Parts: sequence; structure tokens; C-alpha cells
Amino acid sequence: MSKQETVCKNAENCFLAKHGTKSWDIVKRILLTFFKPPIRILDLTYGTGRFYKSLDRSILTITAVDVEKHKWEVEPNVFYQMRAQEFVNKVIGKSIELGEIDVVVVDPPWDALKRGKIKYNIRLAARPYRFSENPESIINAALLIVKSLGKPLMYKYMRVIECKHKALWISEIKIFGNKGYNYYGLCVDWKE
Ligand SMILES: C[S@@+](CC[C@H](N)C(=O)[O-])C[C@H]1O[C@@H](n2cnc3c(N)ncnc32)[C@H](O)[C@@H]1O
Repeated sequence: MSKQETVCKNAENCFLAKHGTKSWDIVKRILLTFFKPPIRILDLTYGTGRFYKSLDRSILTITAVDVEKHKWEVEPNVFYQMRAQEFVNKVIGKSIELGEIDVVVVDPPWDALKRGKIKYNIRLAARPYRFSENPESIINAALLIVKSLGKPLMYKYMRVIECKHKALWISEIKIFGNKGYNYYGLCVDWKE
């Protein structure tokens, strides 16, 4: 099977790109292809908000979660400074009331695979969690909330997250150097 066939077999739209494709261009394309503005976003690992910087701010309502308050490139409407895992538990336990959203976004910090294990990216990670956090637990929190809300998940990660049926979108972007790939995906249903 060719590389294209291997990556794309479970996706309706699939693109393989060289290093250099900008995250905000991919995010813009995914959001405008599948969602009708105004788009209500819950981003569990908000960072500076660069994902949204080439979208017209007026068509987005952003609820952002991050352990750290970074210098924002795009200002969210609401910001929760806490771990994604804690936020998700609070929404499910109803101690945080979340308004209507259209899509959940997650982009956990991760580092190159070391002997087959995904490492937490300590450069991007918040200081208190640098050595205790695990990117898979952030992904699991994202899967928990999309399953509980019945909403789509858009992710950027070092692997494809399997949907129950075909993903609506997968992009594979080569990372500079020898660090592997980033995958952008959009799932509307999930494997149990
Ligand atoms: C790869 S960056 C996200 C970049 C973001 N997509 C953007 O557009 O700027 C990962 C972010 O996850 C945050 N983070 C790390 N651990 C977290 C956790 N447990 N819960 C929520 N955010 C976390 C980091 O502070 C960092 O801002």
C-alpha cells in the first residue's frame, strides 16, 4: 500500500504535505469547510490561539482552556486556566456550565517519539506539569467530552485518532528534521 493509501484509507478528505504548511491555514480550511459561521469552539489546549489567526474573529466564539495564560494572538471570549482533564470533569460533573458549542479542539504538547513512547513536550508544557503530564491523557479528556456532548473533535496530534467511521478530514504534515509527522483530523464519531 502506498503512503497515501495507508494514511488516507479512513478519511473522506485527506492531504499529505511537506513541512511548512501553517497550522492556521489548515484549521481555517477545516472549520470553513465543515461548520457554518458563527462557529462556537471549545479549545482545550488554547496556547496563544494561533490556530484561529487567519479566520475573521467576528465569526468565532471561543471558549479556551489552558494550564497557562500565554500571550494571546487571538483573544478568546472565555478563558479557563486549568488542566483540560479537570475542565472536562467539571463540565461532566456540571460544576462548569458550558454553553452550546459546535466543535471541540485539542492540540496537546508532545515531543518526538523516544523508544516508541510519546513524550510530553516540556518546552510547550506548563511549568508545574512538565514532568507529570501525559499528552494521551489530554487526548482522552477530549474524547470524553466529545462523547458526552455528541460533538465533533478537531485535533492536531502525532498520530491519527481513529473515528468509528471515516474521518471527515486528515492532513499529514511532515515536521522539520527527523521528528515525524503532525496529523490534523476531524472526527464526528469515535471508537468506544
Ligand atoms: C501545542 S500548544 C497549543 C497551541 C495552540 N493550538 C495554538 O494555536 O496556539 C499546547 C498547549 O497545551 C497547554 N497544556 C499543557 N498541558 C495542558 C493540560 N493538561 N491541559 C490544558 N492545556 C495544557 C500548554 O500550555 C500549551 O499552550
